[in-house]
Amino acid sequence: MADQGMSEDSDRLFAHGEAAPGSFRFDAKVARVFDDMIRRSVPGYATTVAMSGWLAARFAQPGTACQDLGCSLGATLLACAEAMTEAGIGPVELIGVDSSKAMLDRCRSRLEPELGGRQLTLIEADVRTVELRPSSVIMLNWTLQFLPPADRAPLLTRIHDALLPGGVLILSEKIIDTDPGAQQLAESLHADFKRSQGYSELEIAAKRSAIEDVLIPETLEAQKARLLQVGFATALVWYRQLNFASLLAVKA
Ligand SMILES: C[S@@+](CC[C@H](N)C(=O)[O-])C[C@H]1O[C@@H](n2cnc3c(N)ncnc32)[C@H](O)[C@@H]1O
Repeated sequence: MADQGMSEDSDRLFAHGEAAPGSFRFDAKVARVFDDMIRRSVPGYATTVAMSGWLAARFAQPGTACQDLGCSLGATLLACAEAMTEAGIGPVELIGVDSSKAMLDRCRSRLEPELGGRQLTLIEADVRTVELRPSSVIMLNWTLQFLPPADRAPLLTRIHDALLPGGVLILSEKIIDTDPGAQQLAESLHADFKRSQGYSELEIAAKRSAIEDVLIPETLEAQKARLLQVGFATALVWYRQLNFASLLAVKA
């Protein structure tokens, strides 16, 4: 399943099996290999990115903004631009926010030549405090899970406030299952997925330790309930692979 060919952008960060618990950061070393890391770690990543672009084009309102919070290297912003162009959607400002300068530097050099004239604004900021512009689409793919749990509802409330009527939030997260048996099975299958992508036992164990208490997953039920609590009219689960899921929340 995996492409075993290694290049300088291949993720070998944990190949020596050394990582202090909770030490994972989105620094320059991670930014360099991030594309490879996320594709080989998140089952369904490529589908989620492509579908996020398609959903963004479906709900984008010309003359408004489409924001990606925790945009990393800009894969989803690029998918949005392509899907909007294909659907003939008029001017929509693409805004990417990330607190990692290393990610944003790479995002800028990667996206600018590809956007075919679409307006792009990249902002280095914490999503918890950045001013959110009025938008028809906001995306939050695998970023909420890195915030302290107490900070999540306030951010989702601000996102709901920033969305225009009919606007949507596209949310993707690692999730845990309420049923311990199902949770254990999903975790074990996820480890198998990583093995199939060429990660060794050492790498899987070291990454698990590095990310411990840095990425704090919640149940799908808790995610859905909170979206409704902060004011969204509907929250639809539109995709799930093992312990990763994506939701679409619509503002009335
Ligand atoms: C797993 S990555 C997101 C992947 C990306 N959405 C994609 O589709 O490829 C999480 C990103 O969120 C950023 N991030 C984490 N906490 C953040 C915060 N409080 N404010 C802004 N960005 C944050 C990280 O720097 C990282 O680039």
